Amino acid sequence: MSSDQRLGVNLGERSYPVVIGSGLLQRLPQVDGIAGLLRGRRVFVATDETVGGLHGAALGEGLAEAGAKTIGRHAMAPGEAHKHLGSLAGYWDALLTAGVERGDLLVAFGGGVVGDVAGFAAATCLRGIDVLQVPTTLLAMVDSSVGGKTGIDHERGKNLIGAFHQPAGVVADLELLGTLSRRELLSGAAEMIKAAILGDPALFDLLEQAGSALLDDPTALAGAVQRAVALKARVVEGDERESGQRALLNLGHTAGHAVEVCAGYGNITHGEAVAMGIGFAAALSERLGRCPGGVARRVANLLEKFGYPLRGRGLPAEKVWEALRHDKKTRGGVPKWVLIRDIGEAEWGVEVPDEVVADLLSEVLV
Ligand SMILES: NC(=O)c1ccc[n+]([C@@H]2O[C@H](COP(=O)([O-])OP(=O)(O)OC[C@H]3O[C@@H](n4cnc5c(N)ncnc54)[C@H](O)[C@@H]3O)[C@@H](O)[C@H]2O)c1
Ligand SMILES: [Zn+2]
Repeated sequence: MSSDQRLGVNLGERSYPVVIGSGLLQRLPQVDGIAGLLRGRRVFVATDETVGGLHGAALGEGLAEAGAKTIGRHAMAPGEAHKHLGSLAGYWDALLTAGVERGDLLVAFGGGVVGDVAGFAAATCLRGIDVLQVPTTLLAMVDSSVGGKTGIDHERGKNLIGAFHQPAGVVADLELLGTLSRRELLSGAAEMIKAAILGDPALFDLLEQAGSALLDDPTALAGAVQRAVALKARVVEGDERESGQRALLNLGHTAGHAVEVCAGYGNITHGEAVAMGIGFAAALSERLGRCPGGVARRVANLLEKFGYPLRGRGLPAEKVWEALRHDKKTRGGVPKWVLIRDIGEAEWGVEVPDEVVADLLSEVLV
């Protein structure tokens, strides 16, 4: 019996299905909405060396059984450090060498880095070919594979070069998470917590009750991933190109990004930084009187339950403050905060006086 979860991202002619379940790669021909994208299709598999080594064969078999013909494969070096032009060019070269044509499908098989880089390759090669996102990290399943943002990093900052390119479909096979480290799993869980706070109080309750044990229960996890994706889909549907409310998805990312930069990429996971950022945004919201008392405590309790380090790990508050201000400069203005109104409701684009942020930083980061 299948406990697959499925939903659609509704964007007119760019609408697409998202399917979440265990063992999907082994039964691609039966996966509604996805099988039709693959049957009789020429496909190119874009992955990274780690994911390709662990799961490339399983994906290859699944694609063949679904009636797709693989015309080429390419694996980039894994990790954020390789999210650059060189890796993008590697995909372009391999695609063109394989003789890719406009009607072909690129299968982006990996975490958020592969999804973003290969998605951008699909957006740009031959002026755009279809991409099927097959995320292999929890972060990519609940966040990056949905919504169509693709791109690479630049010396001047993360994700500065890119394009919007919605996928033709998303297949999240939870079985792939079996080889992912606990730390990477938890990194993705922070984005689920973010989704719950932004707009799904029932998901928040579920996470509160289950704690991190949820990550070990495939049925419960599938349900939580589905809810987080549904929230993201709703936000993206309302504002595909981030001219407004899509900024909500940056909850926890303003302070989180600064912490990430200060700790040095690789020393702290994205989710750990975002968890700290969410805790900070909650404390800030409460201090400014923008949410009922007790909300910040409830958020902090949940984050602690998942085991995120909420304190600054010895990061000096001034350094984080500098990083925040630098971020502001690079975006040409005042930082706009996403604040919490209540569990399940947030607001975006809020300007907060410098002293309030600086004071709270020096209290939190000890
Ligand atoms: N496009 C968007 O909307 C969006 C949203 C959020 C994040 N992102 C991007 O996502 C990236 C982070 O994604 P990530 O956390 O998935 O990182 P990642 O892609 O680097 O994956 C983390 C590590 O896990 C390995 N890995 C992946 N799947 C595995 C598996 N099943 N088993 C074992 N190892 C596996 C990878 O090789 C890599 O070393 C960032 O670059 C971020 O900018 C994009
Ligand atoms: Zn994030």
